[in-house]
Amino acid sequence: MGKLTVLCVAILLGAVFAGTELEMWNAAKEGDLTTVNKELATDTDPNWRNPDSKNQGTALHAASASNHPAMVRLLLRARADKDIMNKEGQTPISVASYFGFTEVVIVLAARGANVNIPTNTGITALMSATEAGHLSVVEALIAAHANLTLSDNQGDTALHYAAWKNEEDIAMVLLQAGADPRKQDNSGNTPADDARQYVNIKLAIMIDGFTRITTQLHVTTATPCICSKLSLIITGIVCGTIVFIAVTLVVHSGLAYCARAQPQPHLPAQENHNLLDYTHVSQDTIYETLD
Ligand SMILES: *[C@@H]1O[C@H](CO)[C@@H](O)[C@H](O)[C@H]1NC(C)=O
Repeated sequence: MGKLTVLCVAILLGAVFAGTELEMWNAAKEGDLTTVNKELATDTDPNWRNPDSKNQGTALHAASASNHPAMVRLLLRARADKDIMNKEGQTPISVASYFGFTEVVIVLAARGANVNIPTNTGITALMSATEAGHLSVVEALIAAHANLTLSDNQGDTALHYAAWKNEEDIAMVLLQAGADPRKQDNSGNTPADDARQYVNIKLAIMIDGFTRITTQLHVTTATPCICSKLSLIITGIVCGTIVFIAVTLVVHSGLAYCARAQPQPHLPAQENHNLLDYTHVSQDTIYETLD
C-alpha cells in the first residue's frame, strides 16, 4: 500500500467515526432516543465535543439546551460527564438553568451534577437562572444546595442579578434562603444599591428591609450568650489562679531575701557573760558587803 492509500483510509475512518459522533450529537439535540441508544451500543463517545456547535458542547449540553430530560437520563446512564464544560465554561446544568428547563435541572442535580461550577466569567447556574427570571429553576437549584454567597468576576452575587433585573419573587426566595443583602460587589455596591440604580424602587425598599433585619440579627448574636459567659468565668478562674501563684511566689522570695539581707540584732555572747558576771559579782559584792 502506498502512503497515499494509508492516508485516504485514515481520513475515511476519521470521517466515519466523526460521522457517528456527530449523528449521536444531533440525535441528542433532537431528543431521538432510538438513534442515541443505537450509537451508544456501538461505543460512540458520549463526551465528544461538536466543534461546529456554537459553544463546542457535548451531546449532554445539546440535550440540556433543548429540554430533553429523558435524553439527559439516557446519556447520564451511558456515563456522559455530568459536569463537563463547553468553550464558555458552562456545564449542562448551567445551560439548562439559563434556558429555564426545570426538569432537566432537577434530573442533573438528582444525578449529582455540581450546581456551583462557575463559567469562565464566574457566572453560576443560580445567576443564569436569576438573570433570565426562571423562579422554579432558582428554587430547584437552592434545593440542590446552590451556594448563595458565590459571586461572579465583577463580585456580583445572584441577589445582585435579581436586583438589577427587577426579579422581585426571585430576590425574595434568595433572601429567605439566606442570601446576604449586605454583600458588596467589586465597585462597592450592595444589591439594594443596584436596585436603586436601575430604579427598581419597590425591590430596593424590600432589600433594605432585609438588610436591617440581617444587621439586627448579627448584633443580637454578637451579645454574649451562655457559652461566652462560661468562657469568661473559666478565663477569670485561670487568670486569678495564675495571679495568686505569682503573687505568692513574689511575696515568699521577697521575704526570704529580706531575711537573708537583714543583719541579726544580737549582742556578743562574751559581753553578755561579762555583764552577767559583773552583775553577779557586784551582787555578791553587795551581799558580802551586807554580811
Ligand atoms: C460558598 O461560597 C463561599 C465563597 O466562595 C465560600 O466561602 C463558602 O465556603 C461556600 N459555602 C459552602 C457551603 O460551600
